Amino acid sequence: MEQKSSTVTLEEIISLCKRRGFVYPSADIYGGLNGIYDFGNLGVLLKENIRHLWRSSLENEHGEILRFEGSLLGSEDVWKASGHLENFSDPMIDCLACKKRYRADDINTEKACAHCGNKKWTEARAFNLMFKTQLGAMEGSSSDAYLRPETAQSIFINFKNIISTNRVKIPFGVTQIGKAFRNEITPKQFLFRMREFEQMELEWFCTDEQSDMFFKYWHNKRKKFYDDLGINQDKIRLRKHEQDELSHYSKKTTDVEYQFPFGWKELEGIAHRGTYDLSQHAKFSGKDLSVFDDATKSSYTPTVIECSVGTDRLMLMILCDAYTQDKIEGEARIVLRLHPQLAPIKAAFLPLTNKLNEPMHKIYNQIKKSGLSVAFDTGGSIGKRYRRQDEVGTPFCFTYDFESKNDQTVTVRHRDSTKQERIAIDQIETFLKENIT
Ligand code: GAP
Repeated sequence: MEQKSSTVTLEEIISLCKRRGFVYPSADIYGGLNGIYDFGNLGVLLKENIRHLWRSSLENEHGEILRFEGSLLGSEDVWKASGHLENFSDPMIDCLACKKRYRADDINTEKACAHCGNKKWTEARAFNLMFKTQLGAMEGSSSDAYLRPETAQSIFINFKNIISTNRVKIPFGVTQIGKAFRNEITPKQFLFRMREFEQMELEWFCTDEQSDMFFKYWHNKRKKFYDDLGINQDKIRLRKHEQDELSHYSKKTTDVEYQFPFGWKELEGIAHRGTYDLSQHAKFSGKDLSVFDDATKSSYTPTVIECSVGTDRLMLMILCDAYTQDKIEGEARIVLRLHPQLAPIKAAFLPLTNKLNEPMHKIYNQIKKSGLSVAFDTGGSIGKRYRRQDEVGTPFCFTYDFESKNDQTVTVRHRDSTKQERIAIDQIETFLKENIT
């Protein structure tokens, strides 16, 4: 097999996602909605695998990891206290001629507007990225609410509830996987910068003295997560934020960056949030959000280390990293070299001819019962069916042929090497359990 090291383009990823039903533009039949996407069968399966692996990767020997699911809407009080009303904005700039709006950091004002060619610009102004809405029929600031721009705040405002209803001791973590919303000025690069997206966040509560040690600990642990998924080591790096890049809540931050087709970009943020959030909410709500230390017999506000990654952005990274083009016996193919645990479909069951559909379908049903996500495909030549599975990253294809009935074996084809071997039908389940790890 000829190997081609692939430099994938974003257009190739977008095309694959649409063609194979991973991702569709939202409201596609009405022309799409900028920065908003819907997810099809394979996209949902891939995301489920991503969430599952992310959760397992956080298990550690230092403290409990609890789960949390907060509401998407938050009152104005929450976002005032968190600092988002005042600080959560991007600088924007408008072309004075055609009124097209850009992120100021994307524009060189010496240059002409890419849309109309004019060179006259407004001053840069701050544009708050939160979506505002109204609760109930009454208008007025008491009913103002905002869609959350990060999942983290709902954990902080529930800190007292969490600590009093779970028997946890510092250090411990709270995770949340859920939607966040940002009215991005220029949503772009497909799943990279969306207006509605999902975040997977860990808020790790510890003492101030422990915080530098845990900041480092979570760096290493998050880096290991990407290494274990087999992500190309040359395309991933950690980068410390300069002082002037830090978010309003952060004492220090390191980004996990990935070399996307459009350059090195933030994939995940690891932030030392200090006591900022709990202190702010204690101050604004008037509630005590400290914990009691039995050893010193005194109360203190815990420090937070946060690991935050977008599920959709991570999915885009995984697709870019796995996308490969090579040639088998002179024929070009696209193959997603996904880690088997990420693969949306673990195995495909392919009868060699239509006459063999029935026995293969029986085997397929048997394996499906074991809970694995599997496919049954009868359409087209066997070569074409292999290619279809390669393109969506299915690690194994089983083929039932004319010998299968006599010797109770099938062939198993390995996605990456395309090598084939025969295995006993009653060994398929064990084979899959052993190889999808
Ligand atoms: N709670 C911290 C926080 O929200 P952030 O750096 O603004 O920090 C964390 O966001 C992660 O969320 C990013 O590293 C990225 O993976 C994802 N993310 C942020 N904005 C996004 C967007 N517009 N579209 C997709 N993912 C986004």
